[in-house]
Parts: sequence; C-alpha cells; structure tokens
Amino acid sequence: MNLSGLSNNSFVPLQPHKQNITRCTHMLQEGRIVAFPTETVYGLGGDAANDAAIQAIYDTKGRPAHNPLILHIGDADMVGRYSVPFAPELVAKLAGQFWPGALTLVLPVKPGAVSPLALAGGQTVGLRMPSHPVARAMLRRFGKAVAAPSANRSGQISPTTAEHVTQAFRDHPGALAAVLDGGPTPVGVESTVLDISSEMPRLLRAGSVTVEAIEAVLGQPLAGAEIAPQDVLTSPGLLQSHYAPRARVRLNVVEPEPDEALLAFGPDVPAHRGPVYHLSVDGSLEEAAHRLYAGMRALDASGAACIAVMPIPATGIGLAIHDRLQRAAAPRLGDDDE
Ligand code: TXA
Ligand code: MG
Repeated sequence: MNLSGLSNNSFVPLQPHKQNITRCTHMLQEGRIVAFPTETVYGLGGDAANDAAIQAIYDTKGRPAHNPLILHIGDADMVGRYSVPFAPELVAKLAGQFWPGALTLVLPVKPGAVSPLALAGGQTVGLRMPSHPVARAMLRRFGKAVAAPSANRSGQISPTTAEHVTQAFRDHPGALAAVLDGGPTPVGVESTVLDISSEMPRLLRAGSVTVEAIEAVLGQPLAGAEIAPQDVLTSPGLLQSHYAPRARVRLNVVEPEPDEALLAFGPDVPAHRGPVYHLSVDGSLEEAAHRLYAGMRALDASGAACIAVMPIPATGIGLAIHDRLQRAAAPRLGDDDE
C-alpha cells in the first residue's frame, strides 16, 4: 500500500486538510521528506534532528553541502531550543515585529540541538517561523524544527505552486514522501535572512521583510544592505548563478530586441511582438514579487533565448526582486566567458 502522496510514477499533491497534515507529520517523524507551502515559496522539509533526512534533502535538491538550511519552527518559544541566548532583546523585538513571517534570524546554534549537516558544519542556525496556515499547522503538530530549503533543484527557480514542486522532482519521484498543496504562495520571493549572531546585525539575503522595516526596528542602518544593485550589476561575475531559468536574462531593458521575451513592469510597456509577461501593470512591487517566478517560468517556456527585464525600483521588496534577477542574469557554468 502506498500511503504517500506520490507513487513511483505519479505526483499527486495532497490537499492540506487536517488528516493529510497529520500524515505528513508522521512522514517527517519517519525521516522522510515532505514539500510544504510557506508564504514565500514551497519548502522541502525534513526533521532537523535527523541526519539521514537532512542528507536526503541535500541529495534530492542537489545542493552543495556547504550551504546551510533554514530551520522552520511553529512557535517563537522554540528559539531557545535551537540557539543559545544572544541579544535576547533584539530577538524579541524582531520576532515580535516580523514573526510569524518571512524573516530568518541567524543566531549562534545550541550545540547538539540539530543535525550538524543542516548547519553545513557551522556554528550558527537560521530560524524562521512561517505565517502560512498550512506550514504553521504542520510545524505545530510536528513540535520540532523542520529544516527546509526552497523546494527546487539547486540553482533553479524557486517554486510558488505545488505543481512547480512536482515538475522539479518529476525525475526523482521516490525522493519526496508528499507534497502539501497550499495553492500559490502569497509573497512569492524568499525570506529575508538577517544575521544577528554577532554585535553588528547584517543582511545576508534581501527578502520580503524590507530593509526599511528592519532598520526601523534596529534604529540604525543595516550592514549588508548598502550595496546599490547598480553597483553589483557592474560586476555580475561576482554573483553566483541562481534562481536561473533556461533562457539568458538581460536587465534594465528599455528597448527589448524583437526575438526576446519581455518581463514587463509598470504601465508604460514598449511595443513588443514577442512574448510578454506583465509583473504588475500598476507598478506594485508586492504584486511583482508575487508573480516574479511564475513569470520567469512562463517566459522560459515560450522558448525565447533571452528574457529582457524592464527597470524595477530597488526599494522595499524591490530589493529582493533585484537580487533574484541579478542572480538569474549572472554567468552560468558553461557560459563562453567562464
Ligand atoms: O523563504 C524562505 O526562506 C524559503 C522557505 C522555504 O522558508 N527557504 C529558502 O531556503 O529560501 P534556501 O535554503 O533556498 O535559502 C536559505 C538561505 C541560503 O542562502 C542559506 O545560505 C541561508 O539562508 N542560511 C541558512 N542558514 C544559515 C546560517 N546558519 N548562516 C547563514 N546563512 C544561512
Ligand atoms: Mg533556494
């Protein structure tokens, strides 16, 4: 009998009702891998204390072993189970303001609390309490941390629907015990990663919790957020290719070439005969973030060799959009110039 949502050759995402959520927590207890929705993107979850489960996540995703996983928790009180007390007032302030939500806090890890594989051998742990009701229900029921990277193959576009997950692992059906289907993820780009494991808080990844909102809580400028995206663009070779579609990506395009696909933003779109995906006609950055990955997938599927992206402001969640697009545009292994 196949109790999982996936048989060997068919992927059937599970509806996220109570019974299926309970089934998934049992799978996690057995050390199996479950994909689940969060408000940002879908995650590929496993029991953070189980070495075999964590190894299976790295293997399934094809992720390099030196890149640590975020631990997802169902309750803010669990911070003390996984990290040693460090700047508790700051943690309380940030968690109070942004949890549940899309902020990952990097803290000194409590020795022995989780599989060292999940931390990639490091001394810190990234903790996040998602707000998505399905994630919350699963995490609360499981009662322990679930390590979960985004549920895509390493380097590729993050999944914002259950179908994206099943597509990504089509050729590895046995690797996932189940995919919980929570519909399209509302936010659409990954969490903000904030390192508060030393005296100076530092932005490690821009995300949906904005630099502006974090700085308002810190009462000071945030280190790591000061590099203007235009500066980074001048040396794209420094960026590791990630979030990458098959097509090449060209940024800040005002006049797309006729054979390009166009990722449009705002009301003033140049006349274009090729495929166009509009991120937001109104120029809403939140809407653009929500539609970003689906748009990149759709234009990739159009078969165009290059996706031209219109200028997008780098303020608020726009900083995260820029970060993802720059990585998508970074040189890939096998590119002529590498
Ligand atoms: O929104 C998200 O964060 C999604 C959902 C599933 O929660 N997860 C996600 O995980 O994006 P992943 O593995 O694709 O990206 C996690 C990022 C990586 O850049 C990783 O290097 C960083 O967080 N990270 C995790 N733990 C860390 C740690 N202890 N120290 C520094 N960076 C860490
Ligand atoms: Mg990822």
